[in-house]
Amino acid sequence: MNVSIFDTADEAAAALASRVARALTERPHIVLALPTGRTPVPTYAGLRRLHAAGTADFSRATTFNLDEFAGVEASHPGSFRTFMERHLFTGVNLNSGRIHFLNGAAADLDAECDRYEAEIEAAGGIDLLLLGIGGNGHIGFNEPADELVARTHRVRLADSTTRDNAALFGGDPARVPREALSMGMGTILKAGALVLMATGERKAKCIERTINGPLTPRLPASFLQLHRSVELYLDQAAASLL
Ligand code: GLP
Repeated sequence: MNVSIFDTADEAAAALASRVARALTERPHIVLALPTGRTPVPTYAGLRRLHAAGTADFSRATTFNLDEFAGVEASHPGSFRTFMERHLFTGVNLNSGRIHFLNGAAADLDAECDRYEAEIEAAGGIDLLLLGIGGNGHIGFNEPADELVARTHRVRLADSTTRDNAALFGGDPARVPREALSMGMGTILKAGALVLMATGERKAKCIERTINGPLTPRLPASFLQLHRSVELYLDQAAASLL
């Protein structure tokens, strides 16, 4: 794994935004996979700024988001789709026809997961997949478990994850959906290149185990060790146990 450590979270975010802008220049038809969470917010702000400055052109890019809450319409204020509209999509020139999202409100959620896998295949696979990491080591919504699922699937969220996402639902964990749809570990590991960003001391233990620990479904991010192109963008706090 290629680990870059920055003094501050803002510096890590700025470097990652530049990394993505370079990828857009090198490969205008790039297929990106995108995360939500607090961590990527400054990266998305950086990309909006680079776009405004004329150095990040998304016009031919395709995006797939990693996950979405189940039972939530795209237009719901707590949906990941709404999050992405606010933090990235409305500030860059993505073609709306090339923005792909899991529909958490689909009548048949299993069929929705199959549809998403097929769309990723039809787009030629994911070139660059950006990731955050949950406080419990989840990636996307692949939660610690006895077994991990390879393909896009329905997930029961861990209590800690509903607490972590409560801000999207008025601060009340009880209002966070108990289920979500997420790309699977195989979907993630098939991407051409992976970049995981983590900031803050709360992530330090998971990051240390992700890099140095054994492969275990109890820490889904540990499986990133199997991929040949993984970059970690960390601030000092998230890297403090390395
Ligand atoms: C959610 C998302 C993950 C993300 C995680 C971390 O659970 N499904 O993709 O990595 O939050 O969030 P934060 O960056 O706020 O710590």
